[in-house]
Amino acid sequence: MSIQQEQVESRRTFAIISHPDAGKTTLTEKLLLLGGMIRSAGTVKGKKSGKFATSDWMEIEKQRGISVTSSVMQFSYRDHFINILDTPGHEDFSEDTYRTLTAVDSAVMVIDGTKGIEAQTLKLFKVCRMRGIPILTFINKLDREGKDPLELLEEIEEVLEIESYPATWPIGMGKAFQGTYDRFTKQVEVYRGNEESVFIPFDGKTVTKELEEHVRSEYIPGLIDEISLLEEAGNEFDLEKVKRGELTPVFFGSAIANFGVQSFFNSFLPLTLPPQPRHASKGEVSPLDDGFSGFIFKIQANMNPAHRDRIAFVRVCSGVFERGMTVTLPRTGRSMKLAQSHQFLASSRETVDKAFPGDIIGIYDSGNYQIGDTIIGGSETFEFDELPKFPPEMFRKVRVKNAMKHKHFEKGLTQLVQEGAVQLYKTPFFQDYILGAVGELQFQVFEHRMKGEYGVDLEFQYMNHHIARWIPKEQIQDRMLDSRVLHVLDRDGHSVLLFENDFVFRLFQDKYPDVTLTTSFEKK
Ligand code: G4P
Repeated sequence: MSIQQEQVESRRTFAIISHPDAGKTTLTEKLLLLGGMIRSAGTVKGKKSGKFATSDWMEIEKQRGISVTSSVMQFSYRDHFINILDTPGHEDFSEDTYRTLTAVDSAVMVIDGTKGIEAQTLKLFKVCRMRGIPILTFINKLDREGKDPLELLEEIEEVLEIESYPATWPIGMGKAFQGTYDRFTKQVEVYRGNEESVFIPFDGKTVTKELEEHVRSEYIPGLIDEISLLEEAGNEFDLEKVKRGELTPVFFGSAIANFGVQSFFNSFLPLTLPPQPRHASKGEVSPLDDGFSGFIFKIQANMNPAHRDRIAFVRVCSGVFERGMTVTLPRTGRSMKLAQSHQFLASSRETVDKAFPGDIIGIYDSGNYQIGDTIIGGSETFEFDELPKFPPEMFRKVRVKNAMKHKHFEKGLTQLVQEGAVQLYKTPFFQDYILGAVGELQFQVFEHRMKGEYGVDLEFQYMNHHIARWIPKEQIQDRMLDSRVLHVLDRDGHSVLLFENDFVFRLFQDKYPDVTLTTSFEKK
């Protein structure tokens, strides 16, 4: 195996997706502990303790105690290099959350066992599903009385429309939680509260003395029945389906008690994929290709309020990144020397000298880059496929409070829209500015940055609209429009209809079945 191949094979780059409070942060901490990255849990996020992770760069993050933009953590585990890309877990998540999912090779879905599938999990799941990447499920909080495990599996299959394969199976729950049975290793992992688990071999049928010593006897017959039910009536395990994202292996545990986390992660490695080829204008780009290439999936500004520096997050796709190398940006044809580059570790932001496919590096940006940009080392020129667009779900009219500041307003608006902080629309006649976002927080970040970086105070006007659909201009008729169906133009001048809600949207579709509505502008 070549060095490049070894490096690629040993990498796993993934994101954890969940609804707020399902336990993503707790699980992340436990994974970092496994990798020896942090000495005690509580370092990743200190919502209540007032400690903040190094990833919380922006002032607004400090104020609210949440991570606005996704950060990256790298650690090694069992000869593998693991990159975890954090996705903002607060309800006010943003387009960054979605875009992060375009830079990973697999995802871990954390579900709160007492609640089942929640709204944000569903949204993020859909993006992962669209990409066809492996999705592993961790059902958390087994130390609490939760939903019936079979019901949870049913919910996964019905709501998410993905087959499930319980890799572990819980024995009891809540106060009576006994542990889990691992169908891969054929072991019972015995739950002992905050003490380390004990592992007991079990073939699923034969009751041994050891098993009886550790698992309460009234739970054993039920466990045997359930294991045989899963074997007979459950889905078959199929690694190829897992790799295509068609079947999700399901694990049960309790992140807070660090129970089931290590067994989960041991299975995670063989069930997920190393960095995969990525489609570009010249065809597939393999991680084993010689030349360096990568794409930018996020731009973060204001990391140091004293300087207006911006960091572009690059996912390395092929070749080797070396500090100081010169890259070209095919979009503009410009060449740049990447002297300042960072790798993201849980404990600090460190200068990186070398990075391989799957790794995420942060490069200093003085305004050259845009989200979705390809950067290439060497003489070739190609561009990776455009990142998918995520239609906004909330809108605000915005104007500058002090008319004298209009120029600054325009400048900031252009810059921040280019960075992908928010989307911009205009009304066709009065040229009112309308901002679109997938999360409320994007407006707040926008407001904060306009004031902090451009000295502009803004006035927002709430809008009732929640659905955006692109429409060919020639299909628009005046009679289609009213206060609940608004016609606006996106920043490239394409027509978009904003609908108040799902009801209005469906009514419109029934009334005008011949109109073509799409979730982003489609070239004909
Ligand atoms: P998030 O990042 O997905 O938003 O969730 P986070 O890990 O912050 O966990 C949300 C809450 O759930 C926290 O409690 C956390 O302690 C708790 N939790 C996480 N995993 C488990 C688990 O396995 N079992 C139980 N019973 N609880 C769990 P909190 O009270 O909101 O915060 P804190 O005071 O504990 O920090």
